[in-house]
Amino acid sequence: MGCKVLKIGQISDIHIGEDENLVQGIDVRSNFLKSLHSKSMEDIDLLVLSGDLANEDGEPGAYRFISEQVKGLKVPVLVIPGNHDRLDTMSKFFDLEGKIHGDKCYFKHEIADRTLFFLDSACGTVSRDQLDWLKVEATKIQGEIFLFMHHPPCFCGHRFMDTKYSLKNKEEVQAVFAEIPNLTHIFCGHYHSHFELEMGRQKVHVAPSTQMQIDSHAPHFILKSSAPEWMTVEIGENFVETAVYLR
Ligand SMILES: [Fe+2]
Repeated sequence: MGCKVLKIGQISDIHIGEDENLVQGIDVRSNFLKSLHSKSMEDIDLLVLSGDLANEDGEPGAYRFISEQVKGLKVPVLVIPGNHDRLDTMSKFFDLEGKIHGDKCYFKHEIADRTLFFLDSACGTVSRDQLDWLKVEATKIQGEIFLFMHHPPCFCGHRFMDTKYSLKNKEEVQAVFAEIPNLTHIFCGHYHSHFELEMGRQKVHVAPSTQMQIDSHAPHFILKSSAPEWMTVEIGENFVETAVYLR
């Protein structure tokens, strides 16, 4: 019997501030709510918030607001930290029980006969401990595995982000990923732009941001749009499809 299609909502780079003040002139709270309450999210099985929930440096007000907004959802909500998050503060508002190892948040989640892995790249690298853990855990899984992390593990062709803020140990990470035959799809954020890339046998999907999109052609920061964008992922028996939405 085939597996049911698993639909995941991925909201990334929300960048909520401590209070209701606009963030760089953008109503990031409203942007987040537009994504959360959009029709595209009505039939999801799982919601992933893939880092940079907080705007600058782990503002508690950001986690308070987001956790209150998602607490009524009927589906699991999984969070991973980005470079603007603080794990110690995040853990006061989200259930990270059993997911924090040392000062990193990494874990796997089984749902609808699939195994999803989540890594912590908040400090700009993926630690060796996490890579070793992933390698071992992946061998225990029969079928494909799917991975979420905040930073894309490769350059994406985004001039500003590739130059200034790409994952620092991407060569090490890529080498480990290449040794994991059943790792097929990697879902990220961080770049404030949508990309779909081939990385060897793996496909890298980079979700846009609900805060704003950054122009990928300019070598410095140029705002492309302050409209919220988000992604859904559908994983079927023989396919993975993503869709990007905006308001
Ligand atoms: Fe980020």
